[in-house]
Formats: sequence, C-alpha cells, structure tokens
Amino acid sequence: MANSAENVQVIQRGRHLGAEIQGINLTQPVDDLTFKVIKDVFVEHELIVFQDQPITSEQQIGFAKKFGELSVHPFSPNSDETPELIIFDNDADNPPFGTDCWHSDETFRAEPPKATMLHGLIIPEVGGDTMFASMTSAYEGLSDRMKNFISGLECIHDFKPFRALFNNDEKGKADLRYFEDRYPTITHPVVRKHPVSGKPVLFVNPQFSIRIKGMSEVESRNLLDQLFEQAKIPEFQYRHCWDVDTVVIWDNRSTQHYAVHDYFPQRRKLNRVTIKGGKVLPYTDAADTRSVHNNKSPLPDSPKVKHGGHVPKRQLERELEKVKT
Ligand code: SIN
Repeated sequence: MANSAENVQVIQRGRHLGAEIQGINLTQPVDDLTFKVIKDVFVEHELIVFQDQPITSEQQIGFAKKFGELSVHPFSPNSDETPELIIFDNDADNPPFGTDCWHSDETFRAEPPKATMLHGLIIPEVGGDTMFASMTSAYEGLSDRMKNFISGLECIHDFKPFRALFNNDEKGKADLRYFEDRYPTITHPVVRKHPVSGKPVLFVNPQFSIRIKGMSEVESRNLLDQLFEQAKIPEFQYRHCWDVDTVVIWDNRSTQHYAVHDYFPQRRKLNRVTIKGGKVLPYTDAADTRSVHNNKSPLPDSPKVKHGGHVPKRQLERELEKVKT
C-alpha cells in the first residue's frame, strides 16, 4: 500500500521525547504531504521510532535525504562505497568506540548535525539499548536561577575522544594537525534556541564540550559537571530497546544519547546516516531571577496528598519495638 498522510498514526512512547509512527512503509516512497506530518512529529517528539522496516541502505539514505543533505563523519567506520553511511558492526573482537558517553552527535563541528538515523540490522539477544535524553526538558528542569546564570554563556567543543585515534609518531602527528585545521575547537552557546520550535535547549555534552568560555578551569569544570548531570535524570529520558529493522531518527539539536555497551560478546550491527545542520543560535530570553524552585518534577501548588502519603509513624515504631523486646 502506498504511503499517505492519513495513514500516519502517532503513539507517544516517552513522557518528554519519543513517539512511534505506525502506518508508514519506508520501503515505499514518502510523498511531501506525508513527510510534512513526519517532520512535525520529529520536531514535537524529538525522536521517532518506525518498527518493521526492512529497508536497504539505499532506501535509508533516500529517506534520510528528505530531512536534508547528508554529512560524512570524519572518523567513523564509513562504508567504502557510500561514505555517508556509517556501519556500526560490533562484537567482542571489534568493540564499539566512544558511544557509551552522553553526547549530541558531532558538536565539534561549526554546524553540528540536525538529525541522525539508525537502522537495526543485527540485534543482541540481551542488551545493546540506546538511551536518549530530551535536552529541552533537561533545560526546563533547571531552577530559574540556574537558567538565568547560564544564559549567554558559551562553551568550547572539541573532537576530544577521536584524538585517541592518532599515533604518537610523525605520521600520526601530521594527521592530527590536518584534522585540527579542518575541525578547530569551536564555540557554541550553552543554551541554544531550537531553529524550528524556538524552545531553549541545554547544549553541552561530556563527549565534546571541554570548557566554558571566560571561566576559570575549576569554575568551568564544576559548572559543566553539574550541567552534564541533567541528561542522566531518568525523567528526561527514553530508553530504546532495539529490534531488527527498527529505524530511529532523533533531533540532534534537542537530544543527547548514550549507547549502552552491555552486550559483549554478542554482535550488534546498525547502519547510521547523519543529516547536516546549521549554525547554533543562542537562546537569549532570561529566566525569572526572583524565583528559586525545583523544576524537575513540578507539583501543583497545593497537592491534595502531600509527600505521596508518607507520614512519620512514631507510635507504630514504638509498638513494633515493644513486640521485639
Ligand atoms: C551513536 O552514538 O550514533 C550510536 C548509537 C548506538 O549505537 O546506539
């Protein structure tokens, strides 16, 4: 059956990010009207899951190109024939490299990717999930004072983990210099404005963000460590458990991810394509400096049952103590 906008069904999978789209067959062309629906879901839910999509790598590339021009990763295991295609084929002899760290893809670029798409090909019996965090919610979860404090700050990003790929010999040093010239350290706002939704997004990650501009090393490290913690808060996350032929695309401007490296010695194979993004714009609206409150799990002003029904039961404690003696 041909794809059509009317057949699209959206099922929310995560509280803050993640929706599954059903009624679409990615082995068939996706017309512009249907694609518009998919793109709106992508921005609203930040991550889309398509189940049961036995697509070829050409079909994956074709669908990804509807989101924009593809990019070629300078360090990843790319396909020889189609360099836009990254092949993650890992097992005990070829362990994955560096993806078990919270990150947005390639923020060492002046213009980091808009989106990343993975297609599951060989999935371990147990493990190998990918965790995702909504950095829109992570920002929202900060206190207003903290939002105000980080407003206008900038952070330096670097291809730090990939430096380990260069040998310490003359050739390695020359290769490293080549990549340093091509990808010099780059500054992005700590809080970016999403180019489509206009929402503020916390845009620092432990894989590539190295230093807050203008701060001492200690101040910068402490602040970054604190901000990195936001992605680790389960309330802001969606955990994806892979099946063969599941396709996931995420908004790299508003999310981070972490590949869980718990599947050795099993094999895990996924094909990835990455869609180019644009300049990272700062979010400049200041938060309310007068209030300090916990934004992580906002509660109604006067909840009917305070503390979830917990009360100190002193009398009961005493009675239980008596029974014991
Ligand atoms: C990635 O970081 O792009 C890879 C994610 C994964 O392997 O689950």
